[in-house]
Amino acid sequence: MPVSSFQHVRIAGVGAYLPERVVSNEELSATLDTSHQWIFSHTGIQQRHLAAPEEGAASMGLQAALRALEDGGVSPGELGMVIVATSTADYASYPSTAALIQGKLGAENAGAFDLNAACSGFVYALSLGKCTCRNLGRPVLVVASEVNSRIVDWKDRATCVLFGDGAGAVVLVPASSPGILHEVLGAEGAGADALVREAGLRTREDSLRKPGYVRMDGRAVFQFAVRSMEKVIRRLMAEANLPLEEVDHFIPHQANGRILDAVARNMGVPQERFFRNIQEVANTASASIPIALAQLRRQKALQPGDLVLLVAFGAGLAYGGCLLRW
Ligand code: ACO
Repeated sequence: MPVSSFQHVRIAGVGAYLPERVVSNEELSATLDTSHQWIFSHTGIQQRHLAAPEEGAASMGLQAALRALEDGGVSPGELGMVIVATSTADYASYPSTAALIQGKLGAENAGAFDLNAACSGFVYALSLGKCTCRNLGRPVLVVASEVNSRIVDWKDRATCVLFGDGAGAVVLVPASSPGILHEVLGAEGAGADALVREAGLRTREDSLRKPGYVRMDGRAVFQFAVRSMEKVIRRLMAEANLPLEEVDHFIPHQANGRILDAVARNMGVPQERFFRNIQEVANTASASIPIALAQLRRQKALQPGDLVLLVAFGAGLAYGGCLLRW
């Protein structure tokens, strides 16, 4: 079929991978000045999955990708592009994690590149993947994979308890009716200093800093999260000209249960309509939304025609959302 026949793009397959090792709040409390009570009451987190020593963003992303391809009935040779959202890539600069996954898949007809929009990376990659899929007229693989456990200071109780590792992936295919309906992407770059991983090439001193840990102004990020998620939801609905009541599934980035409570309350949406798995997986950064999608898919909770709203925020301070017709 000629490329111009396809006006739209839909998600054909979803997959996720979580490392086997589960670490509970109680286990963390044995070596850190914290408690299950504090972590659970301040974040809603009960446990997190942590990568094995030999696992990384590419190997976890590969597992999620294989599951998404199988779910979508798409073979690696059909792919036109592999896009990986990650802020914890296997290599600091290159090769890209996408190239590593493309190679392992044997996706010999696909280009490959990484994208970093921190925790908002998946929605950015989905938006870019939609354009690429439509332009190429071929399937596109979008992966989000994070090994957060390697960039947190395990002695800093204010940050290390919040994160987990994991990967999620979707396969996009050209479609004759709308699947990915609309996206909103934005950033408050002036506030970027509120959430930084202290490693990089900005200055010579930075380049010598090893390892570089996450530093966060938790309160500033909390306020940004609530403000930006509400803004994205309102803009998505207004620009798509659809009422909020029609959304069947809100799938927000899982960073803190209290952030989700505040957004749902402020938007007048019952808490139950906001998907939540933070208690099991903690904050998996860009991977959190595709991990949630895969969980809902496994539960057969996503029905054809359902309206699904994805919304994320994170370092940058980048934010974004997508509205999907399943
Ligand atoms: N265990 C026990 N006590 C702790 C812990 C801990 N793990 N962490 C902090 N505390 C203590 C602090 O030292 C402080 O003690 P003090 O009052 O004696 O000084 C007290 O608890 C309160 O600390 P706050 O930082 O004020 O706690 P707050 O209620 O703001 O909660 C939190 C902190 C959970 C980090 C919250 O601010 C938050 O969730 N912010 C948003 C974080 C976020 O979303 N990050 C990721 C976004 S982007 C991305 O996903 C990469």
